[in-house]
Amino acid sequence: MSDFDKIAEKMISRRKILKSGATFGLGSFISTSFVSSGFSMNEGADYAKFKEIPSSTSDTITLAEGFNWNLLVSWGDPLWSTGKEFDVVSRGNESSQRNSFGDNNDGMVLFSKDGKNILAVNNEYTNLNIMFGNNSSGKPKTVDDIYKGMVAHGVSMVEIKKGINKWKIVKDSALNRRIFPDTLINITGPAKGHDLLKTKDDPKGLLSLGTWNNCGSGRTPWGTYLTCEENFNFYFSSSNKNINISPEMKRYGIRVNDRGYNWAKVDERFDISKIPNEVNRAGYIVEIDPFDPYSNPKKLTALGRFKHENAELVMAKNGHIVVYMGDDERGEYLYRYVSNGKYNNDGDASDLLQKGKLYVARFYENNTGEWLELSPKTTGMSSLAEICVYTRQAASLVGATTMDRPEWVAVSPVSNEVCCCLTNNRNRGRKPNAGGDNTSINGPNPRQNNQYGQIVRWIPQEGDHTGKEFKWDLFVLAGNPIVHSGLKAGSKNINEKNIFNSPDGLCFDSNGYLWIQTDGKYTNTGDFQGMGNNQMLLGNPNTGEIKRFMVGPKECEVTGITWSKDKKTIFVGIQHPGEKGNSNFPGVKDSLPRSSVITIQKNDGSVIG
Ligand code: FEO
Ligand code: CA
Ligand code: CA
Repeated sequence: MSDFDKIAEKMISRRKILKSGATFGLGSFISTSFVSSGFSMNEGADYAKFKEIPSSTSDTITLAEGFNWNLLVSWGDPLWSTGKEFDVVSRGNESSQRNSFGDNNDGMVLFSKDGKNILAVNNEYTNLNIMFGNNSSGKPKTVDDIYKGMVAHGVSMVEIKKGINKWKIVKDSALNRRIFPDTLINITGPAKGHDLLKTKDDPKGLLSLGTWNNCGSGRTPWGTYLTCEENFNFYFSSSNKNINISPEMKRYGIRVNDRGYNWAKVDERFDISKIPNEVNRAGYIVEIDPFDPYSNPKKLTALGRFKHENAELVMAKNGHIVVYMGDDERGEYLYRYVSNGKYNNDGDASDLLQKGKLYVARFYENNTGEWLELSPKTTGMSSLAEICVYTRQAASLVGATTMDRPEWVAVSPVSNEVCCCLTNNRNRGRKPNAGGDNTSINGPNPRQNNQYGQIVRWIPQEGDHTGKEFKWDLFVLAGNPIVHSGLKAGSKNINEKNIFNSPDGLCFDSNGYLWIQTDGKYTNTGDFQGMGNNQMLLGNPNTGEIKRFMVGPKECEVTGITWSKDKKTIFVGIQHPGEKGNSNFPGVKDSLPRSSVITIQKNDGSVIG
C-alpha cells in the first residue's frame, strides 16, 4: 500500500464519521464533497464548460478556446498625462515612478460606485535585475535609483473605463492615487500607541510612514480596500554589522543585510541599529478608501503582525466580521479575526477592524480543528497590544498547527466552505520554523519536503464563521503523476492533463467555482515535467474537477484576480514575467518584460464568474 493509500484509508474511515451516508472510494477522500449538503453551486455555468488547455511554455497568454485577453496596464505606465510614457532605456526615475503604475502587481480589487470603476492594485516588490538591468551591476547605483525602486512598491489606485469592448485606464482621474513606502498612515487597533511602535519620528506610536511588500488583498462590505504587508523584513538592514539581532526580530526574518534594495542608505528607518522599532510598524494589513484619495490609509494592528498573504473577509451570519488570513512562511500559521461589533449597513463600521479577537488554527488528525484565541490569558503575554505585534510568538505559545506556507484564503459565497493554498514547504518534516516549532508531517500538511503544495478546505461548525470548531479535508494535493506515484503524484483529481505546482492565488467566483493561480517552478523538467509556465485553473468544489484555463508567459507568476461588476471581465495579474531574463511580455522580441494586469473576456461577451 502506498503512503498515499495509507493516508487515504485513514481519512476515509474518519470521513465516515463526519458524514454518515457518504461513500468514498479509496484515494478519493480528497475533493469529495463533504461540504456538499445544502450547497447551491451553479454547476451549469456556461463559462465553466470550457475545454481544458494543455500546459505551455510560450511567452504569451494562452487561453481556453472562446476567450480573449487584452493588456490593461503595465509597470511604469503614467497615471497622469503630465507623465511621460515609460522609457525602456532609463526604466524611469523616482519622479516618473511616483506618477506611474508600480511594479510587480499582485492582489487587486475592482471597486464600482456611481459609475466609476477604481482598480486598487498591490505592487509587491521589484526584481533588481529588471528594474536596474540597465546598470552594469544590475543593482541600484544612485540615490535616485534607490528611491525609484522604493516608490515602485506600494499600491496603485487607478480609475478604469470600458470602451466598446476594451478596458482602459483613465489618466488624470481625480481618484488615481499612488501609495508608497513613505505615505502617511494612521496606526489603529490594540498596538496603537504601544511602546513597541514608538520611534524618534513618531514618539507617540500613532502614525507610520508607508506600506511595502503588499501581497494579497481583500475588500470590506463598506467599500474599502485591504492590502497585506508580506515580506516586510527584506528591506531592513543594519549599519552595525555586529549587532545582536533579538529573537523577536529573528522570528520575522530580520537580518543584518537586506535583499539588495539599499533603502537604509537613504532612510534610516530601515537601519535596525538606528531605529529598531521601525520593524514593529510593518507586517500589518492596511485599509484604504478607494473613493477618498486624500484619506490616510490605516494600519490594522488588530489583525496581527506577520507575513500577511491576503485578507478574506466574510460577514458571519450573526453579523460579526470575520477575516481569514495566512502567514506565508514555512511552518507558520493560519489565522482568523472576529470583530467585537456587528456590521450594520447604516452604522459606523470604522472600529470593526480595530476591536476584535485574534485566533490561530489547530488541525487534528481526525479531520476536525479548532480556533485557539490569542489573548493574554491563553498566551501568558502581557497585553493584546503585545500579541498584535508579536503574533507569531503568541501562536507558538498556544500550540497552533504549523502549515506549509499559507497563501490566499477564499470563502465560497454560495456555501460556507473556506479554502487556503498551502503553496509548498521544503522544510516540512526536516526543519523547525523560525520559532523552533516542530514541523513534522501532520493532517493538512502530509508530505515531507512538500514541493508541490495543496489546498486545505474547512467548513465551520454549523456554518458559523465565528464558531470555535471546524471540519476539514484537502481539496487537492498537487503532484506529478507523469514522474511519480504515491503521494507525490497528487490526489485523485490530479492527472497528466491538469498538473500544476505551488497553488497561491485563490478566489471563489459568484457561482462557487474556485479559481486557482500558481507561483511555482516553471522548469518543465524533472519533478516539474509537463507543468509548463505558471497558470490559472478552475476548480469545481462539488466534484473536485480541476481544469487548466490559462497559462502565463515565461517566468511569470499569475497572481491577483477581480471581476467587473457585470462579471463579463476578469482582471488577472501577470507578475514578474522574465524574472530570470527570458521573457518579453507584454511586448514581443527584445522588449523589456513588464508586470501587467490583463483583462479576460468571453468572445460572445457573456459572463465569466
Ligand atoms: Fe506574496 Fe506569499 O506571496
Ligand atoms: Ca502570493
Ligand atoms: Ca507564492
